[in-house]
Amino acid sequence: MNRKDEHISLAKAFHKEKSNDFDQLRFIHHSFSETALDEVDITTAFLGFSFKQPFYINAMTGGSKRAKDINQQIGIIAKETGIMTATGSVNAALKQPELADTYQIMRKENPNGIIFANIGAGLSLEEAKRAVELFHADGLQIHVNLPQELVMPEGDRDFHGWLDTIEEIVTSLGVPVIVKEVGFGMSSETIAQLLERGVQAVDVSGQGGTSFTQIENARRQKRELSFLNDWGQSTVISLLESQTFQKDCTILASGGVRQSLDIVKALSLGAKSVGIAGTILNQLMTHGLDETIMLIQQWENELKMLYTLLGKKTTAELVTTDIILSNEISHWCESRGIS
Ligand code: FNR
Repeated sequence: MNRKDEHISLAKAFHKEKSNDFDQLRFIHHSFSETALDEVDITTAFLGFSFKQPFYINAMTGGSKRAKDINQQIGIIAKETGIMTATGSVNAALKQPELADTYQIMRKENPNGIIFANIGAGLSLEEAKRAVELFHADGLQIHVNLPQELVMPEGDRDFHGWLDTIEEIVTSLGVPVIVKEVGFGMSSETIAQLLERGVQAVDVSGQGGTSFTQIENARRQKRELSFLNDWGQSTVISLLESQTFQKDCTILASGGVRQSLDIVKALSLGAKSVGIAGTILNQLMTHGLDETIMLIQQWENELKMLYTLLGKKTTAELVTTDIILSNEISHWCESRGIS
């Protein structure tokens, strides 16, 4: 089977509503909210774009017939709901132009929506420009995925120069760039390195949902690297690691988002918006297009209720919400000097 098709099948097979670090954060309930559902505004804005909802469909797929069908459906969902989307990694289409239409279909279905093209770290400025042009993208996501590459039998083995190429791209590309993880999370050191290179937006994409070490292990003949299946920092911990940079940089979050409550938790830790991959893919493949559109609309309504419950009228106000973290997460913060 094609690698992209295997990723889709395995991501779906491994997707389950498991407990993750979003469960280690609780909101403190206060009885008086002094707001009304009608006053609540769940919009968000970052990198010069405004969005109807503070969540988006993250990078997933492209490069095969099955991937094209999924991208087409994501395009339709985005047109219906106004949600931001990203293509899967277009590295393959840059090498084999005949694959381009398996991603372009997303733009065809959603001509006026905000779409980010996605490439891997290490690609050149020229390749980044071609990726944006090919898909008439509004911006570019660059993914960093070191653990995945190592576990992938055909993956990269030399990781020199990623920061240099990222710097070259953010300096000269001319459209907004998001540097994202793929479910392993980010440390404050990583975010500091990216900021030094001129990066203005990161998606910390943490552990707790789709695990690409688990997926790549399942593709290996020998599964001896399964000890890496849980590698990385959770999304909650990555957001805590990002606290000191939130004034200087757009922090986005993804990884392990299962429900609207997880979105609000990530926003309360300072994310400007929240990406979802595995949960949307599972919904789409299990229940189909209409039910996925309905899920997004349901989440929009639930967010309005949650903002009201927390007494917050806007997405930006959520960072002032009272929260309690579990002992384990508090211990991480203490050890890392995060207050
Ligand atoms: C992904 N993800 C991903 N990320 C990326 O930057 N480029 C890519 O091509 C892909 N491909 C991909 C395929 C499939 C099938 C899935 C489920 C995911 C990673 C994704 O964008 C996200 O960072 C992680 O999946 C964590 O989020 P979830 O899945 O836990 O919501």
